[in-house]
Amino acid sequence: MAEKQNDTMEKVISLCKRRGFIYQGSEIYGGLAGTFDYGPLGVTLKNRVKDIWWKQFVEGREDMYGVDAAIIMNKRVWEASGHVGGFNDPMVEDLKTKKRYRADHILEEAGIEGVPEMTLEQMDALIKEKGVKSPDGNPLGDVRQFNMMLKTEMGVLGGEDAVSYLRPETAQGMFVNFKNVVDSFSPKLPFGLGQIGKAFRNEIAPRDFIFRVREFEQMEVEYFVHPDTWKEHFAHWQKEIHSFIKTIGLPEDMVHELEVEGEDRAHYSERTIDFEFDYPFGRKELYGLAYRTDYDLKKHMEHSKQKIQFRDDTTNEVFVPHVIEPSLGLDRTILAILTSAYTEDIVDGNERVFLKLAKEVAPIQVAVSPLLKNKPELVAMAREVFEEIKKVVPRIMFDDNGNIGKRYRRQDEIGTPYCVVIDYDSLEDGTVTIRERDTGEQKRVSVAEVVGIIA
Ligand code: GAP
Repeated sequence: MAEKQNDTMEKVISLCKRRGFIYQGSEIYGGLAGTFDYGPLGVTLKNRVKDIWWKQFVEGREDMYGVDAAIIMNKRVWEASGHVGGFNDPMVEDLKTKKRYRADHILEEAGIEGVPEMTLEQMDALIKEKGVKSPDGNPLGDVRQFNMMLKTEMGVLGGEDAVSYLRPETAQGMFVNFKNVVDSFSPKLPFGLGQIGKAFRNEIAPRDFIFRVREFEQMEVEYFVHPDTWKEHFAHWQKEIHSFIKTIGLPEDMVHELEVEGEDRAHYSERTIDFEFDYPFGRKELYGLAYRTDYDLKKHMEHSKQKIQFRDDTTNEVFVPHVIEPSLGLDRTILAILTSAYTEDIVDGNERVFLKLAKEVAPIQVAVSPLLKNKPELVAMAREVFEEIKKVVPRIMFDDNGNIGKRYRRQDEIGTPYCVVIDYDSLEDGTVTIRERDTGEQKRVSVAEVVGIIA
């Protein structure tokens, strides 16, 4: 079973590279651990997911405001948010290879129970007492706390004052702009801020392709509510996450909710539900939904000495709003989409691989081809048909590479739902062949009908 799962991961990773979805970051220099580059199809897939998210979570709602905050923020933001003091993981070093590992993961993999409740000292003692070794079979050093924020320096002078951090979550860019948006728009409560952007974490052990990386994208909402109403808004955003999952075509039976208990929740959260997904390497966190209380706004008020409050016009009540935060990782979404869409079957007696992508997210919605690429009259008509469909269907490809069988295989592999072929009958009667990806079925239709079918 485990072998088959790893096999699927390897096949998906290889397809991603071969077909231009995702490449290893800085590949020609041997790569850079925990970084990946999205190629032409990968970036389109990502943009589709972002568009759907933005429409559903921000643009389509009257109570939401979009922002695009700076990635590098004043380091006092991270002191206030608790990330400087608390964004730590227990870490241990392989004394021979110098590779670093999460101490809790090493202990869990060694079959030790109750690890999440252990202190740093208890983990250290257990590793020594039981003689737990690294995955390479070497002795391990002391367990240490390791801050996961990526440090940088700004300005020319350097030194401690110049230290800043690349944001580890997009959320703080919204908390620090709460007051600005209230001053500019005078929104009524409840309202929220939404943002899509990069986040950076110095993960000790980046792994599982784009699942755990050091540079990734988040799609986050900070929704500000009256404290008495947080439960109803929590339930509302829980439903919104499920509806988004459905729209992007993730199989709903592969998504599972996990109520995160006390100790395991982030320092700011009073309730968290993790949305987990059945990846080929196991059930792992896809998204999080947290009730962040008034933790962040209060901390920023304390540290910045600014009044970050809300006045209710009707009741005149002045208070610090509480926050519901649906936090969706984009890269984990892409991995869930790709791994669940990866399918092998037999069509017309031939084995094939195809990506069963939802039409809403498929990077190419339709490929248009002349049956033979060396027949100018077929190519000319294929070009005309291509231009006609393009007016209504933006994600379209003109494909005249190789023979028709190879084109179908290539389009199947990138998840293109429809292929349209122009042949000699097309020249006679203006009809074309449209082939459906999942069934391989073909039918003859007019160009106008093609547009109807796809759009
Ligand atoms: N603002 C809340 C927050 O950042 P989180 O659970 O640490 O909460 C939210 O992260 C989401 O971001 C996760 O559910 C996941 O989708 C994504 N994410 C977190 N760390 C990641 C990493 N190293 N690589 C890829 N995605 C990551």
